[in-house]
Amino acid sequence: MSAVLLAVNGPQAGEWLDELRACGKARDIRLWPDAVGDTREISYACVWNPPHGLLAGFPNLKAVINLGAGVDHLLADAALPPVPIARVAHDDLTQRVTGYVVLHVLMQHRRQRLYDAQQRQKLWLAHEQPAAGEVAVGVMGFGVIGRSVAEALARLGFRVAAWSRTSKEIGGPQTFYGCAGLDAFLARTEILVCLLPRTPDTEGILNLGLFRKLKHDGAAGGAFLINAGRGQLQSNVDIITALDEGALAGAALDVFQQEPLPLDSPLWSHPNVTVTPHNAGDIAPAVFARHVIDQIERFERGLPLENAVDRSRGY
Ligand code: NDP
Ligand code: OXD
Repeated sequence: MSAVLLAVNGPQAGEWLDELRACGKARDIRLWPDAVGDTREISYACVWNPPHGLLAGFPNLKAVINLGAGVDHLLADAALPPVPIARVAHDDLTQRVTGYVVLHVLMQHRRQRLYDAQQRQKLWLAHEQPAAGEVAVGVMGFGVIGRSVAEALARLGFRVAAWSRTSKEIGGPQTFYGCAGLDAFLARTEILVCLLPRTPDTEGILNLGLFRKLKHDGAAGGAFLINAGRGQLQSNVDIITALDEGALAGAALDVFQQEPLPLDSPLWSHPNVTVTPHNAGDIAPAVFARHVIDQIERFERGLPLENAVDRSRGY
């Protein structure tokens, strides 16, 4: 039987190995870098942020399973073999990211940082509280996760709109698309949620010019950024400038151009910034391993991979 390569650049490699072996009982699963064996025997690669060039070394590779939602690192590999790629799009991951976004929208809407500060002063003081229906949230990226987030926020009563690359006529939130729809989307948005993939078109999109176009005089009391997409979408310098000049009232950032965020970044200590270590959507190998083995089995039966990546779009 064809062998499966497991190449995980991160602390979960051992856990993935145990879980994949438990699900794919008869499979020959080989852990990179120490136990790869004969490279000609590898048919499938299950990877997370593998070093560029690695996959080109397997002449009989048939498919790649990306053990995460974002494929930007993988697609940036100039030597990536031209085989089908599947990515994770799974309820567990979707719900985790949805929870992260809802948490930070509510933190801003319910002014939780202010109440935390008041608690430290033992201050019993209620502030005016707009209804969720007065607050406009805009979700950039209306894919698997963006839709879940939009639904959850709409259920809480927020005025939700979404922005995507292509037109969406599916009912639900107000939708905008493409470069032509961006300014109108920003002009009505107070809390901006970014769930875009990193592609040449989205890189650097979260910049000062964009922050200045948000709605600043709404019920939320300023504009707020939540980025759980990719760090390369945002300019850290522009976020700090926007906070200083008032184009942003605050930000919750899960992703950064450089991860871990360098210790000298002013984002760490800014009073209106929340930094999380790219864990909005932590993936549990125990939950996904079955799904990964299922993908390989589907492929071997001649079926297409689920959640296949379209290389020409870049996501
Ligand atoms: P999807 O591929 O399902 O959705 C991507 C969405 O982005 C689509 O709506 C797409 O538009 C839109 N989009 C892409 N390019 C553009 C563009 N140039 N202009 C406007 N819209 C664009 O991805 P997921 O929802 O599964 O995941 C989104 C991203 O979230 C991942 O790529 C990853 O970077 C990030 N992520 C982060 C996690 C974390 O822990 N922080 C965890 C999981 C994901 P269209 O619908 O028209 O195709
Ligand atoms: C991601 C993920 O793409 O964790 O960031 O899946």
